[in-house]
Amino acid sequence: MALFPGHGTHRPDDIVIGPLDLAARVDEALAVQAVAFGLGAEEVAVRRQIVLRHLTYPGARALGATTGDGRLVGFVYGMPNDRAHWWSTIVEPYLRTRGLDHWLDDSFVITELHVHPEHQNRGVGRALITTITDGAAEPRSILSAIDTDSPARGLYHSLGYVDLARQVLFPSAPRPYAVMGAPLPLRRRPGTAR
Ligand SMILES: CC(C)(COP(=O)(O)OP(=O)(O)OC[C@H]1O[C@@H](n2cnc3c(N)ncnc32)[C@H](O)[C@@H]1OP(=O)(O)O)[C@@H](O)C(=O)NCCC(=O)NCCS
Repeated sequence: MALFPGHGTHRPDDIVIGPLDLAARVDEALAVQAVAFGLGAEEVAVRRQIVLRHLTYPGARALGATTGDGRLVGFVYGMPNDRAHWWSTIVEPYLRTRGLDHWLDDSFVITELHVHPEHQNRGVGRALITTITDGAAEPRSILSAIDTDSPARGLYHSLGYVDLARQVLFPSAPRPYAVMGAPLPLRRRPGTAR
Protein backbone atom coordinates (compact mmCIF):
# COMPACT_ATOMS: atom_id res chain seq x y z
CA MET A 1 0.00 0.00 0.00
CA ALA A 2 1.33 3.43 -0.87
CA LEU A 3 0.10 6.77 0.38
CA PHE A 4 -1.27 8.70 -2.57
CA PRO A 5 0.43 12.13 -2.19
CA GLY A 6 -1.89 14.94 -1.24
CA HIS A 7 -4.93 12.74 -1.38
CA GLY A 8 -4.93 11.09 2.03
CA THR A 9 -6.20 7.71 0.91
CA HIS A 10 -4.38 4.47 0.40
CA ARG A 11 -4.24 3.25 -3.11
CA PRO A 12 -3.68 -0.48 -3.44
CA ASP A 13 -0.52 -1.26 -5.36
CA ASP A 14 -1.70 -4.68 -6.39
CA ILE A 15 -4.59 -3.58 -8.63
CA VAL A 16 -3.67 -3.54 -12.29
CA ILE A 17 -5.68 -1.72 -14.96
CA GLY A 18 -5.44 -3.41 -18.35
CA PRO A 19 -7.23 -4.77 -21.42
CA LEU A 20 -10.10 -7.12 -20.56
CA ASP A 21 -11.49 -9.95 -22.67
CA LEU A 22 -15.00 -9.07 -21.56
CA ALA A 23 -16.71 -11.75 -23.65
CA ALA A 24 -14.64 -14.39 -21.87
CA ARG A 25 -15.10 -12.84 -18.42
CA VAL A 26 -18.64 -11.52 -18.75
CA ASP A 27 -19.91 -13.51 -15.76
CA GLU A 28 -17.18 -12.13 -13.46
CA ALA A 29 -17.85 -8.62 -14.72
CA LEU A 30 -21.59 -8.95 -14.18
CA ALA A 31 -20.94 -10.28 -10.67
CA VAL A 32 -19.05 -7.03 -9.96
CA GLN A 33 -21.85 -4.97 -11.54
CA ALA A 34 -24.51 -6.89 -9.59
CA VAL A 35 -22.98 -5.99 -6.23
CA ALA A 36 -21.85 -2.46 -7.22
CA PHE A 37 -25.05 -1.38 -8.97
CA GLY A 38 -27.55 -3.76 -7.39
CA LEU A 39 -28.74 -6.19 -10.07
CA GLY A 40 -30.91 -9.25 -9.47
CA ALA A 41 -30.37 -12.59 -11.21
CA GLU A 42 -32.94 -11.85 -13.91
CA GLU A 43 -31.38 -8.47 -14.70
CA VAL A 44 -27.94 -10.11 -14.86
CA ALA A 45 -29.22 -12.62 -17.44
CA VAL A 46 -30.66 -9.80 -19.56
CA ARG A 47 -27.49 -7.68 -19.22
CA ARG A 48 -25.37 -10.69 -20.24
CA GLN A 49 -26.99 -10.83 -23.68
CA ILE A 50 -26.77 -7.04 -24.06
CA VAL A 51 -23.05 -6.94 -23.16
CA LEU A 52 -22.23 -9.76 -25.58
CA ARG A 53 -24.11 -7.92 -28.34
CA HIS A 54 -22.35 -4.63 -27.54
CA LEU A 55 -18.97 -6.34 -27.89
CA THR A 56 -19.75 -7.05 -31.57
CA TYR A 57 -20.11 -3.31 -32.31
CA PRO A 58 -17.22 -1.63 -34.16
CA GLY A 59 -14.57 -0.22 -31.86
CA ALA A 60 -16.01 -1.71 -28.63
CA ARG A 61 -13.27 -1.93 -25.97
CA ALA A 62 -13.09 -3.03 -22.34
CA LEU A 63 -10.60 -2.58 -19.51
CA GLY A 64 -10.48 -4.46 -16.24
CA ALA A 65 -9.11 -3.79 -12.77
CA THR A 66 -7.55 -6.99 -11.49
CA THR A 67 -5.98 -7.90 -8.15
CA GLY A 68 -2.59 -9.60 -7.87
CA ASP A 69 -4.32 -12.95 -7.51
CA GLY A 70 -6.32 -12.43 -10.70
CA ARG A 71 -9.70 -11.37 -9.32
CA LEU A 72 -11.65 -8.87 -11.41
CA VAL A 73 -12.76 -6.02 -9.12
CA GLY A 74 -13.77 -3.39 -11.67
CA PHE A 75 -14.38 -2.91 -15.36
CA VAL A 76 -15.31 -0.33 -17.95
CA TYR A 77 -16.40 -0.71 -21.54
CA GLY A 78 -17.53 1.54 -24.31
CA MET A 79 -17.50 2.22 -28.02
CA PRO A 80 -17.67 5.00 -30.60
CA ASN A 81 -21.25 6.25 -30.61
CA ASP A 82 -23.49 5.33 -33.51
CA ARG A 83 -26.79 7.18 -33.81
CA ALA A 84 -28.42 3.89 -34.85
CA HIS A 85 -27.58 2.24 -31.50
CA TRP A 86 -30.53 1.84 -29.11
CA TRP A 87 -29.00 4.04 -26.38
CA SER A 88 -28.34 6.84 -28.85
CA THR A 89 -31.90 6.72 -30.25
CA ILE A 90 -33.32 7.16 -26.73
CA VAL A 91 -31.15 10.14 -25.73
CA GLU A 92 -31.20 11.88 -29.14
CA PRO A 93 -34.57 13.71 -28.75
CA TYR A 94 -33.55 15.01 -25.30
CA LEU A 95 -30.30 16.40 -26.71
CA ARG A 96 -31.90 17.68 -29.93
CA THR A 97 -34.47 19.83 -28.10
CA ARG A 98 -31.53 21.52 -26.36
CA GLY A 99 -29.50 21.91 -29.56
CA LEU A 100 -26.88 19.47 -28.22
CA ASP A 101 -27.30 16.39 -30.39
CA HIS A 102 -23.95 17.02 -32.12
CA TRP A 103 -22.54 15.35 -28.98
CA LEU A 104 -23.74 12.06 -30.52
CA ASP A 105 -21.24 12.41 -33.37
CA ASP A 106 -17.50 11.70 -32.99
CA SER A 107 -18.06 10.68 -29.39
CA PHE A 108 -16.84 7.71 -27.33
CA VAL A 109 -19.66 6.26 -25.21
CA ILE A 110 -18.93 4.89 -21.77
CA THR A 111 -21.47 2.09 -21.60
CA GLU A 112 -20.68 0.62 -18.16
CA LEU A 113 -18.27 1.45 -15.32
CA HIS A 114 -18.39 -0.48 -12.07
CA VAL A 115 -16.02 -1.08 -9.16
CA HIS A 116 -16.61 -3.67 -6.45
CA PRO A 117 -17.65 -1.84 -3.23
CA GLU A 118 -14.67 -3.29 -1.34
CA HIS A 119 -12.35 -1.49 -3.77
CA GLN A 120 -14.20 1.79 -4.27
CA ASN A 121 -12.84 5.23 -3.41
CA ARG A 122 -9.23 4.33 -4.13
CA GLY A 123 -8.94 5.73 -7.63
CA VAL A 124 -9.82 2.54 -9.51
CA GLY A 125 -12.91 3.96 -11.26
CA ARG A 126 -11.03 7.14 -12.17
CA ALA A 127 -8.12 5.11 -13.60
CA LEU A 128 -10.48 2.89 -15.63
CA ILE A 129 -12.38 5.72 -17.30
CA THR A 130 -9.36 7.94 -17.96
CA THR A 131 -7.38 5.04 -19.43
CA ILE A 132 -10.14 3.86 -21.76
CA THR A 133 -10.91 7.37 -23.00
CA ASP A 134 -7.19 8.11 -23.48
CA GLY A 135 -7.28 5.32 -26.07
CA ALA A 136 -10.24 6.82 -27.95
CA ALA A 137 -9.76 8.54 -31.30
CA GLU A 138 -12.86 10.69 -30.71
CA PRO A 139 -12.52 14.24 -29.30
CA ARG A 140 -15.27 13.76 -26.70
CA SER A 141 -17.10 11.25 -24.55
CA ILE A 142 -20.72 10.80 -23.51
CA LEU A 143 -22.50 8.60 -20.99
CA SER A 144 -25.64 8.33 -18.90
CA ALA A 145 -25.90 7.98 -15.14
CA ILE A 146 -28.85 7.80 -12.77
CA ASP A 147 -29.91 11.40 -12.24
CA THR A 148 -28.95 11.78 -8.60
CA ASP A 149 -26.00 13.01 -6.51
CA SER A 150 -24.13 9.69 -6.57
CA PRO A 151 -20.41 8.93 -6.33
CA ALA A 152 -20.58 8.17 -10.06
CA ARG A 153 -21.95 11.65 -10.85
CA GLY A 154 -19.33 13.20 -8.54
CA LEU A 155 -16.57 11.34 -10.33
CA TYR A 156 -17.88 12.28 -13.79
CA HIS A 157 -18.19 15.96 -12.86
CA SER A 158 -14.63 15.96 -11.52
CA LEU A 159 -13.43 14.53 -14.85
CA GLY A 160 -15.04 17.38 -16.80
CA TYR A 161 -18.37 15.80 -17.76
CA VAL A 162 -21.25 18.31 -17.82
CA ASP A 163 -24.98 17.65 -17.90
CA LEU A 164 -26.34 17.63 -21.45
CA ALA A 165 -29.84 16.47 -20.46
CA ARG A 166 -31.57 15.61 -17.19
CA GLN A 167 -34.53 13.37 -16.33
CA VAL A 168 -33.99 11.15 -19.37
CA LEU A 169 -36.32 8.15 -19.34
CA PHE A 170 -35.22 4.80 -20.75
CA PRO A 171 -38.00 2.27 -21.40
CA SER A 172 -38.12 -0.23 -18.51
CA ALA A 173 -35.67 1.73 -16.31
CA PRO A 174 -37.47 2.81 -13.14
CA ARG A 175 -35.35 5.93 -12.52
CA PRO A 176 -34.50 8.87 -14.77
CA TYR A 177 -30.95 9.36 -16.03
CA ALA A 178 -28.71 12.34 -16.74
CA VAL A 179 -26.78 12.37 -20.02
CA MET A 180 -23.30 13.83 -19.58
CA GLY A 181 -20.54 14.80 -21.99
CA ALA A 182 -16.87 15.75 -21.66
CA PRO A 183 -14.08 16.81 -23.99
CA LEU A 184 -11.18 14.34 -24.27
CA PRO A 185 -8.71 13.86 -22.78
CA LEU A 186 -10.58 13.87 -19.47
CA ARG A 187 -9.55 16.43 -16.84
CA ARG A 188 -6.82 15.32 -14.43
CA ARG A 189 -6.62 16.19 -10.77
CA PRO A 190 -4.04 18.99 -10.45
CA GLY A 191 -0.52 17.60 -10.09
CA THR A 192 -1.37 14.01 -11.06
CA ALA A 193 -0.99 12.02 -14.23
CA ARG A 194 -4.45 10.43 -13.93
C1 LIG B 1 -18.84 5.10 -9.78
C2 LIG B 1 -17.74 4.14 -9.37
C3 LIG B 1 -17.39 3.27 -10.58
C4 LIG B 1 -16.51 4.94 -8.97
O1 LIG B 1 -15.45 4.03 -8.71
P1 LIG B 1 -14.38 4.31 -7.56
O2 LIG B 1 -13.22 3.40 -7.81
O3 LIG B 1 -15.01 4.27 -6.23
O4 LIG B 1 -13.99 5.82 -7.91
P2 LIG B 1 -12.63 6.58 -7.62
O5 LIG B 1 -12.09 6.17 -6.28
O6 LIG B 1 -11.73 6.43 -8.78
O7 LIG B 1 -13.11 8.07 -7.62
C5 LIG B 1 -13.71 8.55 -6.51
C6 LIG B 1 -14.31 9.85 -6.96
O8 LIG B 1 -15.71 9.68 -6.96
C7 LIG B 1 -16.31 10.80 -6.40
N1 LIG B 1 -17.01 10.36 -5.22
C8 LIG B 1 -16.76 9.27 -4.45
N2 LIG B 1 -17.65 9.18 -3.48
C9 LIG B 1 -18.48 10.23 -3.64
C10 LIG B 1 -19.62 10.69 -2.97
N3 LIG B 1 -20.12 10.03 -1.92
N4 LIG B 1 -20.24 11.80 -3.42
C11 LIG B 1 -19.74 12.47 -4.47
N5 LIG B 1 -18.65 12.08 -5.16
C12 LIG B 1 -18.05 10.97 -4.75
C13 LIG B 1 -15.26 11.79 -6.11
O9 LIG B 1 -15.18 12.66 -7.25
C14 LIG B 1 -14.02 10.97 -6.02
O10 LIG B 1 -12.96 11.71 -6.46
P3 LIG B 1 -11.68 11.94 -5.52
O11 LIG B 1 -10.86 10.71 -5.71
O12 LIG B 1 -11.06 13.17 -6.07
O13 LIG B 1 -12.20 12.09 -4.12
C15 LIG B 1 -18.17 3.27 -8.16
O14 LIG B 1 -18.59 4.14 -7.11
C16 LIG B 1 -19.29 2.30 -8.47
O15 LIG B 1 -19.04 1.21 -8.99
N6 LIG B 1 -20.52 2.68 -8.13
C17 LIG B 1 -21.69 1.82 -8.30
C18 LIG B 1 -21.99 1.52 -9.74
C19 LIG B 1 -22.22 2.77 -10.53
O16 LIG B 1 -22.96 3.67 -10.10
N7 LIG B 1 -21.60 2.81 -11.73
C20 LIG B 1 -21.75 3.92 -12.61
C21 LIG B 1 -22.95 3.74 -13.44
S1 LIG B 1 -23.23 5.18 -14.41
